[in-house]
Amino acid sequence: MDAVELFAPLGPTYDRYARLLSFGQDPRWRRFLVSRVEVEAEDTVLDVATGTAAVAIELSKRRGCRVVGLDQSAEMLETGRRRVEAAGLEDHIELIHGNAERLPFEDGSFAALTFTYLLRYVADPAATMRELARVIRPGGTIAMLEFGLPSGLARPAWELYVRVGLPVLGATISPGWREVGSFLGPSIREFHGRYDLRELWDGAGIKEIRSKRLSLGGGLVLWGRV
Ligand SMILES: C[S@@+](CC[C@H](N)C(=O)[O-])C[C@H]1O[C@@H](n2cnc3c(N)ncnc32)[C@H](O)[C@@H]1O
Repeated sequence: MDAVELFAPLGPTYDRYARLLSFGQDPRWRRFLVSRVEVEAEDTVLDVATGTAAVAIELSKRRGCRVVGLDQSAEMLETGRRRVEAAGLEDHIELIHGNAERLPFEDGSFAALTFTYLLRYVADPAATMRELARVIRPGGTIAMLEFGLPSGLARPAWELYVRVGLPVLGATISPGWREVGSFLGPSIREFHGRYDLRELWDGAGIKEIRSKRLSLGGGLVLWGRV
C-alpha cells in the first residue's frame, strides 16, 4: 500500500488518534520542532507533508509567519483546511496539493522549511532531502520531526508496543488505523536500519546539523541551515 492510500481514510480522525497512540507525546514533539525554526513574522515557511496542518498552525501561532503547507493527500488537506479555518488562520496559511519529491517552487523561495514523518514514504530519501534544501533561501532553517528508535531499556518496551499494542489498538479504531498500526513499527525499524539521517542531511548540503531525541528516543527532531 502506498502513502496516498494509507492516509486517505485517516484525515477526519488523524489528530485525535495520532495523539492517543503516541501517549500524548506527538503535540509536544511538534512544539519542540517549531521552537527550532528561526523566522520573523514577515517570513514564509514551507511545511512539507503538512497533513492536517498541525505543524503549519503551530508555526503560524508561535511565530506569526505565513505558512504554505504541502501534502500529496487530498483527504488529509481537507481536514487541514477545516482546522486552519477553525483557528482563524486562513490569511496566514495556504494549503496546497503536491509531491515533496518534486516541489512546485523556485530555488530559495522560503525563509525556512519544516517536514514531519516524510522520509519513510519517499522512494529516494537522499534525492528528497536535496529537493527540500533547494527551495530554502541561503542561511534558512530546515527542521524535521520523525519517529526514532529508542535504545537501551526503552527498546524492548517500544518493540512490545509496536509489535502488539499498536496493531491491536489500531484494529479497534478502524480498518485504516489497523493498517497504520501494523505498518508503523516495521517502517520505522527498516528506515533507521537502512539510512543514517545525518548522512542524508550532509549529502543535501545542510550545515550546523543538530538533533534531539524526545520521549526516550521515540521522537527525533533534526534541524540545521542550508
Ligand atoms: C504521518 S502524516 C504527518 C502529518 C503532519 N505533518 C503531522 O505532523 O501530523 C505524514 C504525511 O506525509 C504525507 N506524505 C507522504 N509522502 C508524501 C510526499 N511524497 N509528498 C507530500 N506528502 C507526502 C502524507 O500524505 C501524510 O499526510
